[in-house]
Amino acid sequence: MQDKNRSELFSEIVEHRRAVRDFDTTHSMPENIVEQAMNDALLAPSSSNLQLWEMHRVKSDGVKEKLAHLCMGQGAAKTASELVVVVTRKDKWKERAKWNAEKIRSSLNGEEPNEKIKGALAYYEKLMPFAYFNDPLNITGFFKYLLLNTIGLFRPTVRRLGHTEGRIVAHKSAALAAQTFMLSVAASGYDTCPMEGVDPVRIKRLLKLPTGAEVNMVIAVGKRTSQGVYGPRLRVEANQVIQTW
Ligand SMILES: Cc1cc2nc3c(=O)[nH]c(=O)nc-3n(C[C@H](O)[C@H](O)[C@H](O)COP(=O)(O)O)c2cc1C
Repeated sequence: MQDKNRSELFSEIVEHRRAVRDFDTTHSMPENIVEQAMNDALLAPSSSNLQLWEMHRVKSDGVKEKLAHLCMGQGAAKTASELVVVVTRKDKWKERAKWNAEKIRSSLNGEEPNEKIKGALAYYEKLMPFAYFNDPLNITGFFKYLLLNTIGLFRPTVRRLGHTEGRIVAHKSAALAAQTFMLSVAASGYDTCPMEGVDPVRIKRLLKLPTGAEVNMVIAVGKRTSQGVYGPRLRVEANQVIQTW
């Protein structure tokens, strides 16, 4: 495919994606739409490739109904063919850092690591524990904050190493996976609505999520009805949000 066609096609997909608030409840959505979109979401970028997110696919009528109630009964949730709960799993950092390091080691096939590979291993095995480790009272986070901001007085420094920053990092990556998911659904001619107007505490309980998990957003998926899109697409002028330096 020519680059121009790919670019036009991508713009069409972006145009197609709207926040849809009313789905056709009589339409039977093929199984593979969400499956394909989830596989595409797996390719979304994630901080340090840790993939600290999960997607929980809700298809059964019983759970969907309960979940729609926890999405404050929003029309999008009540009429969706499926609901997908995007969740962050910051608590999995250790397991994922280990997984990445093991992948790097196994790619060596017994050969000595070069400097670049040694750097990558040090990143996952030494820097990651420093970056992600925290105690429940965030005392470690406070000392990391002091240390990094002191260093930051003298040179550029990565400063996002406390508990809150770790949560933000996980939510950023989860949102990128969510957007990749929604664009993939749009590419299949179907529709979505991202929702954060939800009760995350009750959703965690409903899906039996562990303490370390946080609800990032719930995505309603289905086929739009003629009233599915509430109005024209409104955006502030580009110069309000895009700056060129
Ligand atoms: C993080 C996030 C949370 C959102 N939460 C809701 C929501 O709870 N309910 C809803 O109807 N729309 C929700 N939206 C959709 C936005 O209102 C919508 O994307 C915006 O108005 C722009 O419209 P468009 O997506 O059709 O271009 C959310 C969007 C994002 C990105």
